[in-house]
Amino acid sequence: MNVAQLFAPLVQRLPPETAHRAAILGLKFAPPPAARAADPRLAVSVVGLRFPNPLGLAAGFDKNAEVPGPMLRLGFGFVEVGTLTPKPQPGNPRPRLFRLREDGAVVNRFGFNNEGFDRARARLERRPKGILGVNVGANKDAADRIADYALGVKTFAPLADYLTINVSSPNTPGLRDLQRKDAFDGLVARALEARDETAPRRPLFVKIAPDLDDRELADIFAILLARGVDGLIVSNTTVARPASLRSPHRAEAGGLSGRPLFAPSTRLLARARLALEGRVALIGCGGVADADSALAKIEAGADLVQLYTGLALGGVVVVAAILDGLAGAVAARGAASVAARTGTRAREWAQG
Ligand SMILES: Cc1cc2nc3c(=O)[nH]c(=O)nc-3n(C[C@H](O)[C@H](O)[C@H](O)COP(=O)(O)O)c2cc1C
Repeated sequence: MNVAQLFAPLVQRLPPETAHRAAILGLKFAPPPAARAADPRLAVSVVGLRFPNPLGLAAGFDKNAEVPGPMLRLGFGFVEVGTLTPKPQPGNPRPRLFRLREDGAVVNRFGFNNEGFDRARARLERRPKGILGVNVGANKDAADRIADYALGVKTFAPLADYLTINVSSPNTPGLRDLQRKDAFDGLVARALEARDETAPRRPLFVKIAPDLDDRELADIFAILLARGVDGLIVSNTTVARPASLRSPHRAEAGGLSGRPLFAPSTRLLARARLALEGRVALIGCGGVADADSALAKIEAGADLVQLYTGLALGGVVVVAAILDGLAGAVAARGAASVAARTGTRAREWAQG
């Protein structure tokens, strides 16, 4: 048992934002022992990168790039830090993070609290080995939000293996409007321009909300293909509140993540797979908590998967459990690799 596992029950009893801070500090000052190497059949080659396994840490856990090394040591195949904005900002007033334990879910309305580009860039000058993504956003008070994204891409391209532009946080007023056709096309064009000014050329990902309607989705898919975006992360948290929620916190404003997000985000992922036909890499995110849910994302169309809430509620043991379960499932299906399962059930999921 390592230090993180030892303190897990205590951390779970703290108020959630305090628990998160304690976890970051624990990881920083008592880094976990290195996990054993993943089964070679879990390796995935996509967007010009070789991921040792398809399981990544989603943005939001390590907003300020404090612990990418320890998270990679836990066994994640890649780690995405951020969302970072050009200037530091405090985010929304507390409380702004709620555990919906009965529902296997979390609601957050952080509002891009982060220390800004300069601090994170300084940390990443000594970046760990392993695949690192940097997720960028816009300051709440930015006069030109698109310029914030372009600056983020430019700032972090020399340090990251890939970049994500996050246009889907529900907690910065008006941010998700950047997913509308004309604004989205302008944003993607500027971000790609900024990316192309830097060498080596880094893959650019876009992260979308699960709450888009058919029309908005069709526009986004068309723009991704026309502009040549490398990857799509499906999805961020949802503003929907399914009737099944039981927790007393269910009506808190913000983005809902975890188990109730699994089905809608996986359905959307499958639709993206069918529309984009493998021309844009897909990262499935939303409600992954065990090997079955990770495999379902892959079979629905994901090249890679990410999680946050499953880790927050289940602890660090979920990482090894998912990787072991995935390796077992690949072997049981007689597949040569986990990548051979990508999209095998996209049609079923898209209709579901
Ligand atoms: C507390 C919390 C903070 C988050 N912060 C960010 C963020 O800063 N940027 C971002 O792109 N996504 C953020 N997310 C969304 C996650 O990256 C992920 O897309 C979403 O939670 C669905 O995955 P999950 O069900 O595995 O948590 C956050 C999620 C949570 C729970």
